[in-house]
Amino acid sequence: MPNDRKILVTSALPYANGSIHIGHLVEYIQTDIYVRYQRLRGRVCYYLCADDTHGTPIMLKAQAEGISPEQLIARVAAEHLRDFTDFGISFDRFGSTHSDENRVLSEHFYGRLKAGGHIAVRAIEQAFDPVKRLFLPDRFIRGECPRCHAADQYGDSCEACGATYAPTDLINPVSALSGATPVTRSSEHYFFKLGDFADNLKAFTAGDALSREAGHKLAEWLNEGLTDWDISRDAPYFGFEIPGAPGKYFYVWLDAPVGYIATFWQLRARLEDRALAIDDVRAQWSQYEIHHFIGKDILNFHGLFWPAMLEAADFTRPKTIHVHGFLTVNGKKMSKSRGTFITARRYLDTLPAEYLRYYFAAKLNNGIEDIDLNLDDFRARINADLVGKLVNIASRSAQLLAKHLDNTLGEILPDAPLYTEFLKAGETVEACYEACEYSRAVKTIMDLADRANRYVDEARPWEIARAPERGAELQAICTQTLNLFCVLIAYLKPILPQTAARVETWLGGPELDFESIKTPRLSCTIKPYTHLMRRIESTDLAPLIDNTEGADPAPRAPSTPPAGQPAAPAAEAAAGVISAEDFARIDLRVARVVAADFVEGADKLLKLSLDLNEGRTRTVFAGIRHAYTPADLVGRLVVCVANLKPRKMRFGVSEGMVLAASDSDGLVVLEPGEGARPGMTIR
Ligand code: 2FM
Ligand code: ZN
Repeated sequence: MPNDRKILVTSALPYANGSIHIGHLVEYIQTDIYVRYQRLRGRVCYYLCADDTHGTPIMLKAQAEGISPEQLIARVAAEHLRDFTDFGISFDRFGSTHSDENRVLSEHFYGRLKAGGHIAVRAIEQAFDPVKRLFLPDRFIRGECPRCHAADQYGDSCEACGATYAPTDLINPVSALSGATPVTRSSEHYFFKLGDFADNLKAFTAGDALSREAGHKLAEWLNEGLTDWDISRDAPYFGFEIPGAPGKYFYVWLDAPVGYIATFWQLRARLEDRALAIDDVRAQWSQYEIHHFIGKDILNFHGLFWPAMLEAADFTRPKTIHVHGFLTVNGKKMSKSRGTFITARRYLDTLPAEYLRYYFAAKLNNGIEDIDLNLDDFRARINADLVGKLVNIASRSAQLLAKHLDNTLGEILPDAPLYTEFLKAGETVEACYEACEYSRAVKTIMDLADRANRYVDEARPWEIARAPERGAELQAICTQTLNLFCVLIAYLKPILPQTAARVETWLGGPELDFESIKTPRLSCTIKPYTHLMRRIESTDLAPLIDNTEGADPAPRAPSTPPAGQPAAPAAEAAAGVISAEDFARIDLRVARVVAADFVEGADKLLKLSLDLNEGRTRTVFAGIRHAYTPADLVGRLVVCVANLKPRKMRFGVSEGMVLAASDSDGLVVLEPGEGARPGMTIR
């Protein structure tokens, strides 16, 4: 493959209404490894992503929080970027679909579709919330399943029996936003006539942009016939208004993929340090191999709708669409109630990012089957591969070099053929990275690690170290070993960039990559060794599982629930609305604080003992330490949520929650009024 390739790589744009979780990270880690590999091979490779900021759920979430959508997306963007950075995701630009460039480009795409005669306008009937005064996306309508009669199902599918249907089929439908019965209302919608591109798409999907598996799936849809795609939504909507159509907005999925190009536009403007016109962007875009990484739930958007849009607007289409499966945890869908809904931040607070990068790499291949994070297997694999095999190679020689040889490497490799064998394996490793067959890359590298450990076992340097006159021999063995280690680290660098950087600092000399390792490190002095990685103990995993409640899932497409992935949050949650029945289920009671204490190792928490007149006290951990000292609270009456599921925390079990009011200026624990006594129910 020529080395002057110019590559543009994208990951799917995360919705700006929820936190990044480890399900998302499968894709970002997969993409980042690809990107880092390409850069390591000296290719120009830009990695682009952005927040996907438009749509009804984001508008409603902002409303529920009493802030503007712009404020919401700014806050979430900062949070997302922090998470990505801490996972070593190396974007060249992380943008937003709510940008000027994206508005201009989305209008341009639409203009081209319209000019080409590919837009149809017609009235359709839809469910309308007469109280909230907005059209309801399917997920915002609840009712009884027409097939199995399960109560409280979404407007498009039943979670109990799996049936899919139209919202109008639901029995006794209600708006999840207001509880009102939706009425049917007609309005004009704008449609993209995808059928105009049927032949073109057949050729595209049969080409080499997609794996055979993904291509087959798309062919099935194509053979069923392409229906017009509804690309407009009525006000109120957070998005871009359609030119010449007041009160009509582009559907979020119209401007989301355009966001790839808008982000590229921003990147090019930065690199060239000048303002660019659309034609400059189009010309630049055509200079690159474009690679989209996506999950299988959004294959139709990327394999059909997007290529049709690109074709219509005369933009180069992707060279490859890499499609992956979903993540399960311990064999099941991630779930809050099982405690397996693990946000990126929760993971980062618990374990090093590179452990997850390695584990995902060890599981990922080019297919679309789901991958499982089994926590016991995760621990065993990290301890066996990274700590037991890889780091062991370095630490054994490092100790001997420090103790007997002033940290100085010898002049020759005593087993040059073995080193050559390691270099030769690089061809396989490269081919695996290029093909996104990371599990095979990892397997190849770990086989080499076994071989390196065998070399040390057979050479027995610790025995030689006992004979001072055999210093040269000892030095040669350690030199060989450390150079083998360097090759392994160079091969693992796309997966473990931070570890590779630490090894580079430790050893000095040129940065490790596929080229530089061809010259072994000889006759040089290295810095003292500091530990590279630690084992995962079983107790390390507990916080990962136990403290995940309250995580905020970022859903996939608002109107299409992803199969096999955590369900999109209930529309109510997105809107901050609960029913009176839901509220009545919360058991609020008066409690007296009988004791309060600091919690060692938790600078936000106080441990409270509460008397609810139950014949025992309850322990509650409350995040109020910044506002109260224990002495402020003892003896006071508070309001306690008494029927909250006990929550196991690192410091003990919390058996309730104390209500407090807060804003940016402070926090006040709520106190019941005069006459209240412990145990009283609050209604
Ligand atoms: O499914 C999702 O999470 C979408 N936000 C992905 C958008 S990818 C692209 F098309 F913008
Ligand atoms: Zn059903």
